[in-house]
Amino acid sequence: KLTDRITELSHLDRSLQAVQARVPMDLQIKGMHLYQRLKRRLTGRAAEPRFIEYPLPAADAVPIEALDPTSPFLYRQGLWQSYFKRLRDEAPVHWNGHTPFGGVWSITRYDDIMTVDRDHERFSAEPFIVMGEPPEGLDLAMFIAMDPPRHDRQRMAVQGVVSPRNLQEMESLIRSRTREVLDSLPLGTPFNWVERVSIELTARMLATLLDFPYEQRHRLVKWSDTAANLASATGGTVTADEAFSAMAEMAAAFTRLWHDKARRIAAGEPPGFDLISLLLTSPDTRDMIERPLEFLGNLALLIVGGNDTTRNSMSGGVYAHHLYPSEFAKLKANPELIPNMVAEIIRWQTPLAHMRRVATRDTRLGGQFIRRGDKLIMWYASGNRDERKFENADAFIIDRPNARQHMSFGFGVHRCMGNRLAELQLRILWEEILPRFDTIEVLEKPQIVQSNFVRGYSRLMVRLTPAR
Ligand code: HEM
Repeated sequence: KLTDRITELSHLDRSLQAVQARVPMDLQIKGMHLYQRLKRRLTGRAAEPRFIEYPLPAADAVPIEALDPTSPFLYRQGLWQSYFKRLRDEAPVHWNGHTPFGGVWSITRYDDIMTVDRDHERFSAEPFIVMGEPPEGLDLAMFIAMDPPRHDRQRMAVQGVVSPRNLQEMESLIRSRTREVLDSLPLGTPFNWVERVSIELTARMLATLLDFPYEQRHRLVKWSDTAANLASATGGTVTADEAFSAMAEMAAAFTRLWHDKARRIAAGEPPGFDLISLLLTSPDTRDMIERPLEFLGNLALLIVGGNDTTRNSMSGGVYAHHLYPSEFAKLKANPELIPNMVAEIIRWQTPLAHMRRVATRDTRLGGQFIRRGDKLIMWYASGNRDERKFENADAFIIDRPNARQHMSFGFGVHRCMGNRLAELQLRILWEEILPRFDTIEVLEKPQIVQSNFVRGYSRLMVRLTPAR
């Protein structure tokens, strides 16, 4: 009988969960890795696509139907603005059925992106929010890729980590770390800003959010970079094998952190305001350790969310000032422009180029018929440069009146949870830069990462002149 089968299955499910809870999470991941490798060997299937760089065609060199904005080299080759401008002007809701990531709708105008992002019933964030898919077996469950009500419960459990009170407490810590990093920089000698400043400051921040051993903070960066740069998911350079190894390491470290914190709380130590304490003390998440993919997914979400994005805004701001030197002069004369400038940096940089949605029913958008199950890509990178919304949209203007209306944090139920923290970090960075340095000279063209998701820099060589 059907009811007996269901009872049997739910027993099986519970037994599996019980077994899972006993096997260390890193071993489970290693086991899954072995299984996936064996499967690949037997089926002869490649683990992931490989992206080889070649010069992309100019935006006007191909018919509009064939224009493909999904290439991970679009930003590095400086073609993204022309591609997106053509799409916005000629086909703002654009179908390409033959991208390396399958058929995708590209949504490129500000207003259309807003419509999609705000309508989670018509456009689901499940199962993934990037263009492609992670390798099989590594499809971590994160609330950014869940719809309400599951999304809301999990977001609520962790959002205290960036509550106004927590941020207030963190401000002086962020400032002292920022000072420490800036004071350690060489003057008059070239160095890579990405490594010495952007990565260093975000790593320190992540260690604080997670109450992670401070001296091991660079491991957080490594895991986060691995998770965000998968070839199959975003056209990046990370292979499935590399991702499995990094996730096993991360699982072992976070499990240790979890149990250690649980023991201390059980012994009467008051829980902190770090992420693990919050997860451990919320009824919806305190047994999350028994759901390994969800446990890892939500921790990975916080470190990926807080890592690449803030880091690339820290580098992007310096590069933007180099391209628009009169803005730096304006800033020095009016330091009170810093908060608006921070919004403008985040608009101009758009650290995450897109988020993906899937249509939950047949529907219409911008005069196009969209089928249930179709993938839609909300191109924030394009919406932020939409001339219909932002005058002279490609320019970096620190006192732009509507800079705050940028889409870099998204809208709707998934609007970035860490937006205030990111703004705080950037505001402090620039408040501390101004009294220290007269110029931040950019010495060569920056190196741009290979990705269709992260809009970032791997190298930005600069030379500093001290303030007189
Ligand atoms: C969600 C961008 C900083 C944590 C998002 C989304 C975007 C985004 C585009 C998805 C929005 C949507 O789907 O509508 C950024 C940018 C940042 C930044 C540009 C920096 C300039 C941070 C930081 C944290 C963080 C510092 C860490 C605390 C998250 C989380 C979500 C999220 C947890 C998922 C929210 C949800 O699904 O409800 N972020 N982010 N982000 N971000 Fe950020």
